[in-house]
Amino acid sequence: MPSEIDIWQKIEKTCREIFELFNYREIRPPIFESTDLFSRSIGKETDIVSKEMYTFHDRSNRSLTLRPEATAPVVRAIIEDNLLQQNQQLKLYYQGPMFRYERQQAGRYRQFHQIGVEIFGSNNPLVDAEIIYMASKIFNKLNLNDLVININSVGDKNCRPNYINELKRYFEKNQRQVCHDCTKRLETNPLRILDCKNPTCQNVVKLAPKLKDSLCNECKMHFNRVISSLSKLNVNYQINDQLVRGLDYYTRTTFEVVSNQLGAQNAVCGGGRYDDLVEELGGKSTPATGFAIGLERVVEVMQKMSLQRGEDQGVKEIDLFIAAMGEEAQMIGFELLTKIREKGLTADQDYLGKSLKAQMKAADHLAAKYVYIIGEEELVKKTAILRNMKTAEQKEVAFDKLSEELHGLAN
Ligand code: HAM
Repeated sequence: MPSEIDIWQKIEKTCREIFELFNYREIRPPIFESTDLFSRSIGKETDIVSKEMYTFHDRSNRSLTLRPEATAPVVRAIIEDNLLQQNQQLKLYYQGPMFRYERQQAGRYRQFHQIGVEIFGSNNPLVDAEIIYMASKIFNKLNLNDLVININSVGDKNCRPNYINELKRYFEKNQRQVCHDCTKRLETNPLRILDCKNPTCQNVVKLAPKLKDSLCNECKMHFNRVISSLSKLNVNYQINDQLVRGLDYYTRTTFEVVSNQLGAQNAVCGGGRYDDLVEELGGKSTPATGFAIGLERVVEVMQKMSLQRGEDQGVKEIDLFIAAMGEEAQMIGFELLTKIREKGLTADQDYLGKSLKAQMKAADHLAAKYVYIIGEEELVKKTAILRNMKTAEQKEVAFDKLSEELHGLAN
């Protein structure tokens, strides 16, 4: 909505500026893809694939899905276009709508928007640190300083299977104490039990074997390098060994940025490393890392913060409003507006033929800094009153001096 759009644009602009600083280039993947792409990458047993996809058949009976996220589409696109051969290290960013058939609630929508980054080619832990640092820079620049970065390692294909077996054994012993969903998860996706929000499950999880104790040496070293590099960059983080994320493609580092201004859906950004995905989708083995920011949730936090600071929301000042009475005055106003806009000032007039009083009201509503009032008399004198709306000072300014006068005032 127009009243919110300034915040959206500010977030988008800030992200773009920071991505450019870190040498990312934009990619625009399609809105829908072959269904198979998502089930192979996100994982058949995840909530996203098993319950939340907008899937339909096209006229040739192909199964297509509105993208629930963009990592898999980006990977597909770069494999198809052979981008990995040309660039050893490829840094991409994207933004746009995603679709998940979720139970709607605050912060959880069926069409929502993400801005995300993906970096391909390096398994260096500095890459993980760099993207987490970049996410924190974005939030700092947006003045969102009370966010918390949760970080964890989910291991890799060498150490995770052992952990999952250990976890299964533990939960099988405690099966009666976990919720119905978690009993199912035990068969399909036991790691997800770790971040079940149900309080009784949480109690069982507290005593469950810890992922960090099962990591192989390589994963442990990788994780330690990530967190020590973050500390060097003065990025505050919290290790959260229950953070497993809702997509199956992650290896090693996973992270989420959460806000205490939001309800249950408090993650404003999520991501991590996914070293096996490119190969699983048919490309050559290529390590990768990335994250996505959920725009609706960031907008909500920013709106709350600006309310707390007592700022006006959705009010956008314009430099000049011309209140013109009658057709001829409107025409003069029309010409003046052109000159004023050429000077880079924002200006508008009323085309509805309203009364002077109504036009002054409109100027107020638009938060115009100045109003120039042209009536029949002014047409003869070729000069009119310029009113400063904040101080209520008025002065006469000739038509041909208006753009100069305003330019001076605006500078
Ligand atoms: P994700 O955690 O599923 O990760 O989504 C990232 C962010 O999108 C979440 O933290 C949240 O802010 C927002 N989000 C997710 N679902 C919804 C929803 N239904 N309504 C509103 N906002 C939502 C991914 O999508 C991964 N592709 C991120 C990534 C990129 N990992 C590596 N590269």
